[in-house]
Amino acid sequence: MKKINIAIDGPASSGKSTVAKIIANDLGFVYTDTGAMYRSITYLALKTGCGLDDETAIAALIDQYPITFKPKEKGQDVFVGAEEVTEAIRQPQVTNAVSEVSAHPAVRKKLVEQQQAIAANGGVVMDGRDIGTAVLPQAEVKIFLVASVEERAQRRFKENQQKGIDTTFDVLKEEIQQRDYLDSHREVSPLKQADDAVRIDTSGMSIKEVVAAIKQTMTKKGY
Ligand code: DC
Repeated sequence: MKKINIAIDGPASSGKSTVAKIIANDLGFVYTDTGAMYRSITYLALKTGCGLDDETAIAALIDQYPITFKPKEKGQDVFVGAEEVTEAIRQPQVTNAVSEVSAHPAVRKKLVEQQQAIAANGGVVMDGRDIGTAVLPQAEVKIFLVASVEERAQRRFKENQQKGIDTTFDVLKEEIQQRDYLDSHREVSPLKQADDAVRIDTSGMSIKEVVAAIKQTMTKKGY
């Protein structure tokens, strides 16, 4: 299989990371979770007491604490500097602050540079909000995943229950709607479908069906 780049974008809890991991694994490609990078910086900002509006100080944290991924049997561990933050970056405090932090142009500039370096030699499945539009506009395959807010809140609710994170369905639904709004209305590279992306509505679809739909898109494109 040619080492192409595959961009998977979409709103919160649309199933991007689950299917991106499976596709990367099946193809022997590298999976890159760009949301985890924005979450890691948000975690650091909260931990070090940076104001969430202090763009310069937050951008400086990116140079100070390199973000790295270590593959493991199921998925990957995330590190900032030497600290393992895989679970910590999924906590509600981080989730509720990440849209504000990721809207800072200086933060995006640094993280986008790192994401482009990761994909420079191809063979990457990258998920996020702006991969097809800003990070990898030349990606050979671009997918935009959507699902109803009800279904996304339901998925996040189940995920949180499994992880022992205590939140109600209604609060989760409201948080997802709020994050969708902020991510789609920020000035720099907002969440938006690329003109050449294939849109897949995953409402009512199983993970297997979504993976099959993406592979079908690849085949149609000649990959
Ligand atoms: O995919 P996720 O829910 O883990 O992403 C967390 C946040 O990071 C999301 O609400 C917006 C931001 N993000 C972004 O701005 N650009 C990306 N490429 C990925 C995530």
